[in-house]
Amino acid sequence: MHKIFYEVHSNLSREGPGNKEATKKAYLMLKDLPEKPFILDVGCGPGMQTVTLAKLSNGKITAVDNHQPFLEQLKKKAKEEGVTKQITVVNGDMKALNYENGSFDLLWCESAIFIIGFEKGLREWKKLVKTNGYLVVSELAWIQPNPPEEIKQFFAEVYPAIKTINGNLEIIKKAGYRVINHFVLPEEGWWTHYYKPIEAKLPAMKQKYKDDKEATAFLATEELEIEMFRKYSDYYGYVFYIMQKT
Ligand SMILES: C[S@@+](CC[C@H](N)C(=O)[O-])C[C@H]1O[C@@H](n2cnc3c(N)ncnc32)[C@H](O)[C@@H]1O
Repeated sequence: MHKIFYEVHSNLSREGPGNKEATKKAYLMLKDLPEKPFILDVGCGPGMQTVTLAKLSNGKITAVDNHQPFLEQLKKKAKEEGVTKQITVVNGDMKALNYENGSFDLLWCESAIFIIGFEKGLREWKKLVKTNGYLVVSELAWIQPNPPEEIKQFFAEVYPAIKTINGNLEIIKKAGYRVINHFVLPEEGWWTHYYKPIEAKLPAMKQKYKDDKEATAFLATEELEIEMFRKYSDYYGYVFYIMQKT
């Protein structure tokens, strides 16, 4: 399972929904950052947003992920884009981030906070950010009331923690942040760098693993996830939350 997961999830420019435009939009909502901010990018993956942030901020970024091949991809990209000096790549665990309190002006996490849990991540990572520092995360949410039964059932199985945008805004406030803004990632941000490249890999992989039951079942779950988004993207999406530690 591990092997097949990483065969699908390798050499993609992203490992979750997002795009450069959304990273930029969220970053430009932050006011009063120092000229060269210290940024922690958690669950950075292959680092599309890390490189975008390096260019936007002119700051120093610590990019943490626990999958070394993604970090190698990020290093290569940073070199190609001339931002190597700004980025420190760390193989580490987002559930045990060992940095001094108040080390960062900004903590960034695109489509990865679900791994530790939305509320837990907000609470545990808060200490790492300076007072009045910022946190930007993107997280899955219902974006319309009353989703159809089929998609409700799907998420009941794959991500029962999914909430409405208002539900997540409440969690943010209770965790001690001021919400500066939030916005829904456009649908294009799911397709161009994520679902389309995965879809392109699937036919050859299905052929290759046709006699392997477990692999075939995994490939079917990837297909189902994409089919659900094609059918029900009006009802759920990734939401960027831009917040300040109070
Ligand atoms: C959905 S991907 C998002 C990657 C990237 N932020 C992006 O948007 O392309 C989640 C990332 O979290 C990483 N990850 C999973 N568990 C982790 C952990 N315990 N500590 C650090 N990174 C982790 C994965 O390797 C993967 O790169």
